[in-house]
Amino acid sequence: MMRDRFELPRNAAGEPLVYFCGHSLGLMPIEARRIVNEELDSWAARGIDGQFSGQRPWVDYAAQMQAGLAALAGADASEVVAMNALTLNLHVLMASFYRPRGTRRRILIEAGAFPSDRHAVAGQIAWHGLDPRDCLLELAPRAGEDLLREDDIEGAIERAGETLALVLWPGVQYLTGQAFDCARIACAARHAGAVVGFDMAHAIGNLPLALHDWNADFAAWCSYKYLNSGPGAIGGAFVHARHAHRSDLPRLAGWWGHDPATRFRMAPGFDAAAGAAGWQVSNPPIFSSAPLLASLEIFMAAGIGRLREQSIALTRALEAEIDALPAGEASLVTPRDARARGAQLSIRVRGDAERSRRIFDALAVRGIVCDWREPDVLRIAPVPLYNTADEIRHAGAALRAALAQVG
Ligand SMILES: Cc1ncc(COP(=O)(O)O)c(C=O)c1O
Repeated sequence: MMRDRFELPRNAAGEPLVYFCGHSLGLMPIEARRIVNEELDSWAARGIDGQFSGQRPWVDYAAQMQAGLAALAGADASEVVAMNALTLNLHVLMASFYRPRGTRRRILIEAGAFPSDRHAVAGQIAWHGLDPRDCLLELAPRAGEDLLREDDIEGAIERAGETLALVLWPGVQYLTGQAFDCARIACAARHAGAVVGFDMAHAIGNLPLALHDWNADFAAWCSYKYLNSGPGAIGGAFVHARHAHRSDLPRLAGWWGHDPATRFRMAPGFDAAAGAAGWQVSNPPIFSSAPLLASLEIFMAAGIGRLREQSIALTRALEAEIDALPAGEASLVTPRDARARGAQLSIRVRGDAERSRRIFDALAVRGIVCDWREPDVLRIAPVPLYNTADEIRHAGAALRAALAQVG
């Protein structure tokens, strides 16, 4: 439990709110302020010399984040890099890994994908002069179901077969909280001869990942959710080691992806850095990277395996509180099997969207910070780094009171 290493949002009386919104914006590590301030001080004191001197020379910033990110991504350090933001990283990676050829030109995503992911794949298809109506395959859950069955995902990949160029899948679905068997999806995609990429926005820092062993080609994520790095924080990317030295892949190249040993020779040719670092474009934004350093330090101290055990217990306790609500009041959208979910539980309450919004508001009045997503889902994520069993009990009582109040 690392609660005392985070700033806790508080009510007007100065009491901590019950913050269950780490799936959206993680809380601020206290050390983030110190590290950001140190970078500001370095800039003030050194100007451009901060690039090469001081406690954390800016020129090496991406390297300083690699070990922590690799541990969370389940990768070798050379397979990960902090850069850009999530959607941009999807574009940068698809520019290399979505290479439609002949009839192999389709991309498979889930029908409920986060809109930005859908925009990105549709945009990529159009960028190649193709029509998303022909090339974008979207797999929906079966009629009357919220969750995707693994067999159906595998079946869709098999059916698309030789027409499939890319599978882009989430590690954890943003609305339902469903966690997928990425190894199985990657295996099916590779069997079909397609590339496989993962959006790990809701998975990294939430579940232990094994992107290398799962054989993903690439992955991207943001750092402002479970990685607690602040609004608009620097994103991250994974590129499998088998692509580390691929000079045949086109890239949206920029000078920061150039081999660092010769980057400052300022020569016109592009010589990609080995590994994921070779997909960097620009020099990293230091002030939106510094909080990630603070957060990674906490993850390294806590260990993602241990956090996951605590997470399973907390989420199970929350599930029990929801199950104990008066019959018919709330139903769980998220799978009940801990292996098929992370921290987040998504629930639907009895009645229409308007009523569920009122319940959301009544929870806020009681100091419970969760969120509400179209069309009718409350998302609640206890985060093992800073949430407690007491807060789960408090949330249960608040839910009961909110339901009674709204009637
Ligand atoms: C699954 C998923 N994809 C894409 C995005 C968009 O992220 P960004 O604005 O960092 O590109 C989000 C943001 O919450 C997300 O959850």
